[in-house]
Amino acid sequence: MKQHLVYIKTIGCQMNHYDSERMVQMLAPLNHLLTEDAEQADLILLNTCAIRAKAEQKVFSFLGRLRRLKQQHPDLIIGVGGCVAQQEGKRIFERAPHVDLVFGTHALFRLPELISKVREQRERICDITFSNTLEEPDLAGAGVRRTTAFVTIMRGCDNFCTYCVVPYVRGREMSRPSNVIIREIKSLVQNGVREVTLLGQNVNSYGKKGHIPCNFPELLKKANDIDGLKRIRFTTSHPKDLSDDLIEAIASLPKMCPHIHLPVQSGSDRILKRMNRGYTVKNYLKKVSKLKRAIPHVAITSDIIVGFPGETEEDFEATLALVQEVDYDSIFSFKYSDRPNAPSTRFRDKVSEKINQRRLEHLMRLQEEITRKKNNALVGATREVLVEGFSKNANSRLTGRTLCNRIINIEAMDSLLGQLVSARVEKAYKHCLMGSVVKIDQVKGNTHVT
Ligand code: 5AD
Ligand code: SF4
Repeated sequence: MKQHLVYIKTIGCQMNHYDSERMVQMLAPLNHLLTEDAEQADLILLNTCAIRAKAEQKVFSFLGRLRRLKQQHPDLIIGVGGCVAQQEGKRIFERAPHVDLVFGTHALFRLPELISKVREQRERICDITFSNTLEEPDLAGAGVRRTTAFVTIMRGCDNFCTYCVVPYVRGREMSRPSNVIIREIKSLVQNGVREVTLLGQNVNSYGKKGHIPCNFPELLKKANDIDGLKRIRFTTSHPKDLSDDLIEAIASLPKMCPHIHLPVQSGSDRILKRMNRGYTVKNYLKKVSKLKRAIPHVAITSDIIVGFPGETEEDFEATLALVQEVDYDSIFSFKYSDRPNAPSTRFRDKVSEKINQRRLEHLMRLQEEITRKKNNALVGATREVLVEGFSKNANSRLTGRTLCNRIINIEAMDSLLGQLVSARVEKAYKHCLMGSVVKIDQVKGNTHVT
């Protein structure tokens, strides 16, 4: 069989990164090796994101850059998958005629046959059909050599927040069977993984539709029982699905990291209603209080949209007040962006770009102050760190995360890769910490030594 080289470009969320790894695993038996050099590849796959207009623009500018490559190598096959593929379908061929394959979010696992077909028939294919079931092959994370890994546990979303494209491009919520998920995590652990992050667009509604006889807290208990696994995280949670049982599970299961990403989106009830979020500020704050009471030092992070249609200065002030009250560890903040199919695109009272930008900067400044204050308070403290790899900015440093998901860099010692260490926080910066190792808590194979 001919040896192929595949280059994969991933844009977007962690789930897309997970799906790109699935692509590599599915293509390996068809003699495809991953290359880091697009110029060398005879197959280029682009895994796309449609969440905001900016992410979509990235897709088309990347495709624009591939035009020359296709002219030089007419045999090169270019495939576009993920959310923009699902949203745009055949229109991608009009905007980028050098694309050979468009595969939507539910066509991911048909990728090997789609590529074979394109190669044999030498004609364009677009597959964006939705299926009613999750046809996910059991790929069990084989061959992965890392310390941390993502595991998708559910796909799709039924919430229909009015600004969001996800329900249209990812389809209805579907959960993977718990035994398949647990098998996948065990296989990752056997390959050296120590921390898993369970992924879903609405991860804490796992199993809620009843087609899986296991709910989210029960799944966490099963994962917690896996020997050799040290840490469990999950993202993204919807506040309306944060149950007392889930809070209890995070508080009581030893491997659960004390961190929850709980996007609030806005601090104004009027805006939350227009967003169709299904909770009020009061409900949200009540859950935050419960979390803080049940889980000592819990880290809470959030997503916030500024400039949603109709957002007044008063609404925005309410968001600032909420950010202050929750005292978030960090937030992702976004300017509202119109998306195809999203109902809010048709709302008339849009906020101007100038005001959006000013609100975004104001919110970011406020959160920076809070994060800095929290990071400074950690100086001198000792925290457990899982060492994940080398720091991107300084190769002489290793990087890892605390239980609360703070990035901490430490002096490099190769032998620490993949280990749990206790580190003293020496310095605090805006986005990370610097620390020194005070104790090595060795993890050998699947057994915890010291
Ligand atoms: N405009 C701006 N931000 C958006 N998000 C989702 N849709 C939009 C949009 N149309 C943000 C939300 C979500 C995060 C992943 O992206 O805050 O939680
Ligand atoms: Fe989008 Fe809302 Fe679903 Fe999150 S919960 S994916 S914001 S529709």
